[in-house]
Amino acid sequence: MLQLPKVIGHRGAAAYAPENTLESFREARRRGATWVETDVKLTADGVPILMHDASLKRTTGVDRLVSRTKAADLPKEVPTFEAAIDCFRELGLGCNVEIKPCEGREEETARVAVETLRRCWPGTLPAPLLSSFKDASLRAAHVAAPEFARALLIDTLADDWRPRAEAVAAVGINTNGKKLTAPRAVEVLKAGYLLSVYTIDDGDVAKALVGMGVQCVITDAPDTILAALG
Ligand code: G3P
Ligand code: MG
Repeated sequence: MLQLPKVIGHRGAAAYAPENTLESFREARRRGATWVETDVKLTADGVPILMHDASLKRTTGVDRLVSRTKAADLPKEVPTFEAAIDCFRELGLGCNVEIKPCEGREEETARVAVETLRRCWPGTLPAPLLSSFKDASLRAAHVAAPEFARALLIDTLADDWRPRAEAVAAVGINTNGKKLTAPRAVEVLKAGYLLSVYTIDDGDVAKALVGMGVQCVITDAPDTILAALG
């Protein structure tokens, strides 16, 4: 059974360092995180890299779509997924790998991500958790590599959360902590799913969510949330 930590650093430690960079993972580790979350998508030539947005613009200033950029032409601060895994090995960090496909590449992105994990994930680290807002990505991951645990990302839990989770054989639900209600939390936990929330940077809010049964808090500020949760 997958063991999740109480706290996961969102995009590394995005409150303190540029998101989804090796620097951000180092900062997360320095601030006490044992796991980080990161977003994986594919370049034009099919290389898995870390980037949240479809465009490089917000985080690097380069006004170009990831899907139109070859890996060799990426700004140097954008890591490949493989480089990130090397960094996790060095730091001893676990990872929630969010599959964040460019439009139309939902299945391909999942397949490349799990192939990379199979090839590169160190046996010394805890097994990773895959997650995605895209059911099609999780379905493809399940088919290609059922050994990697999956969590369905849902911003606001609606009545269809359970059939959707079952369809991808998810072990967990990762949801927006600011929208989670106590009855939905009970429903998810009673059904036997792990329950994680994003992106919570306020200690009191984190404590209240843990009081509702939430097992894992994904945060830009892992030091703050670790201190709050004790
Ligand atoms: O995986 C949790 C969280 O990262 C999901 O939302 O938009 O920050 O990738 P986003
Ligand atoms: Mg994410």
